[in-house]
Amino acid sequence: NKGNYEHYMQKEIHEQPESLTTTMRGRLIRGGSCKAKTVLLGGLKDHLKTIRRSRRIVFIGCGTSYNAALSSRPILEELSGIPVTMEIASDLLDRQGPIYREDTAVFVSQSGETADTLHALEYALENGALCVGITNTVGSAIARNTHCGVHINAGCEIGVASTKAYTSQIVVMAMLALAIGGDAISNEARREAIIDSLFDLPNKVREVLKLDEEMKELAKLLIAEQSLLVFGRGYNYATALEGALKVKEVALMHSEGILAGEMKHGPLALVDENLPIFVIATRDACFSKQQSVIQQLHARKGRLVVMCSKGDAASVCLGGSSRVVEVPQVVDCLQPVVNIVPLQLLAYHLTVLRGFNVDQPRNLAKSVTTQ
Ligand code: UD1
Ligand code: M6R
Repeated sequence: NKGNYEHYMQKEIHEQPESLTTTMRGRLIRGGSCKAKTVLLGGLKDHLKTIRRSRRIVFIGCGTSYNAALSSRPILEELSGIPVTMEIASDLLDRQGPIYREDTAVFVSQSGETADTLHALEYALENGALCVGITNTVGSAIARNTHCGVHINAGCEIGVASTKAYTSQIVVMAMLALAIGGDAISNEARREAIIDSLFDLPNKVREVLKLDEEMKELAKLLIAEQSLLVFGRGYNYATALEGALKVKEVALMHSEGILAGEMKHGPLALVDENLPIFVIATRDACFSKQQSVIQQLHARKGRLVVMCSKGDAASVCLGGSSRVVEVPQVVDCLQPVVNIVPLQLLAYHLTVLRGFNVDQPRNLAKSVTTQ
């Protein structure tokens, strides 16, 4: 049921304040007078000790689910101190890459039925790793075959392009980082800042959804383009990959997410006055590095759209004539949840304006159950 919306993708983008609320329901505990704020993930509580003892955490997934895991890698490393590595499921299988008994392998999948992810799970089970699932579908193959896990509870997602599941996956993985990180005093202020930001996140997403019309106007300017680059780094490298994936899969426009730190190692050669480039430059530890990337793109007359934190337009325009998209600021590790929303809206409007099928892009299936 699409309610008042024209497409499922549009409905699912706009219901993110509610889906994020259900993802967090019952799992965040506000501190009482003497008790600190904590997270409670029922599906993991008996396994946290084993996870904390593991030598490595390996995230395994495909497509959007992989991108969600990538955006959560820095906070998991920071809070747990455990090395975190990333595997695209098919690539792990192609290489028959090493997985050990001392590893915790985390399988991220909206459907819980993706063939590559499921085969990678069988492989990790054979190799003796502790296997954790993060899935949206109760009773799915991945939920059933993992040792333990967390349901993201985002509600049924129908559009082939994953939107609300992505943001809920990031929230679950931030909660996972908090749970694994435990209650070390040294991290207390950081943990509380993240939990406070989680409580407020649905409001911030409601606020960023007001950019809908602005993103439609931007889509009108980009409608006839051949290609769109998206630059990000740090927490928002994943946002660049995910934004580009949305644009290519539904708007059928070539799009590439680029790690800004790699700019001079190749991508800079593409920059001219015609190619549109979206740069994510919200406030975090990488901000000044992104400012210098923007300066260098300007120097090559790049056609920029810069996403920045509210009030930062002047700090990112740096003498150029870029368009600016201002978004509300949240704690750094949750900023990818806010930042993906304008890109989801852009991909949606581009698709409708270009006359393509939003909910069922050509050649794709919601759940990829063959290899
Ligand atoms: C569970 C209930 C929820 C109830 C809550 C109250 C289910 C599905 N969930 O939520 O309805 O409101 O208790 O305390 O009945 N699991 C995996 N692999 C996965 C995902 C989950 O093995 O990929 C396992 C978990 O380890 C856990 C079970 O499935 O044993 C349920 O997980 P989850 O729904 O996340 O647990 P709760 O949030 O505690
Ligand atoms: O159900 P899963 O999360 O395992 O699906 C993984 C990918 O097939 C999926 O995310 C795909 O990339 C989406 N269509 C992206 O929007």
